[in-house]
Amino acid sequence: MKDSRARIERITRVNAHTLHVDLAVEDDAVKLMKPGQSMLVRVGDMHGEQQLWTPYLREQWWMIGTVSRDVVRVELPFTAALQTGQTVQLLAPVGQPYRFRRNLGHVLLIAYNAMPSPLVTMVPSLLKNNVNLTLVLMGTARSYDTQTLPPEVEVIRADDAMEWDAMVRTISETDQTFIVVAQDDELMRFHEVLDVIQKRRPNIAENVLWGVFRPPLPCGVGACDACALRVKDGIKLVCVDGPAFDLTQVK
Ligand code: FES
Repeated sequence: MKDSRARIERITRVNAHTLHVDLAVEDDAVKLMKPGQSMLVRVGDMHGEQQLWTPYLREQWWMIGTVSRDVVRVELPFTAALQTGQTVQLLAPVGQPYRFRRNLGHVLLIAYNAMPSPLVTMVPSLLKNNVNLTLVLMGTARSYDTQTLPPEVEVIRADDAMEWDAMVRTISETDQTFIVVAQDDELMRFHEVLDVIQKRRPNIAENVLWGVFRPPLPCGVGACDACALRVKDGIKLVCVDGPAFDLTQVK
């Protein structure tokens, strides 16, 4: 993991909730990040432009694709106050790539009260490997604009009870499920989604159901223990071992 800089090349307003920001990056490690890995970002440059200290901690940004050889695209909530030409400082890559099973046929992505950006990072590579993808949007995630997703991705908006037509088939036929939830209380939110899934598919095996954890990451390098997560075989750090953890193993 390295500190590097990037320049904001372009900002596109996707809808009332979402921005796509194109970053010209200097470090090859950023361009080579794999799905699951992210960057911790502070707007400004310690050697030039004044750094912004609101928010105080670096923000976690997720790369949803590449635009050209040196430009990557990240997806942010519309609240982000950014300007074209600004410099940002990056700490990347943070975390481990998602651990996919061999012989994947279908992957289910679920976003509950959260933008699905951490899940969207895996869409290009899975489609390239002919994996079928379904994205289920629950709660406030239902307002996410999916027009920028490839048409091959099946998009489902769940109802207020977090249910949808043919959900038994969707849940039982999938090889792996990745879930992202609101950061207000991640363990509780994962539990809510787990309840919905386990009613339709009890006795879920290991390595099927993965939660993508996004606690605040003060250091991002495993030095402060602020992101510690209790799992069956001990304590893991989200910034080093995560962000995805097998939900059957999380205590
Ligand atoms: S953020 Fe400091 S140990 Fe993970």
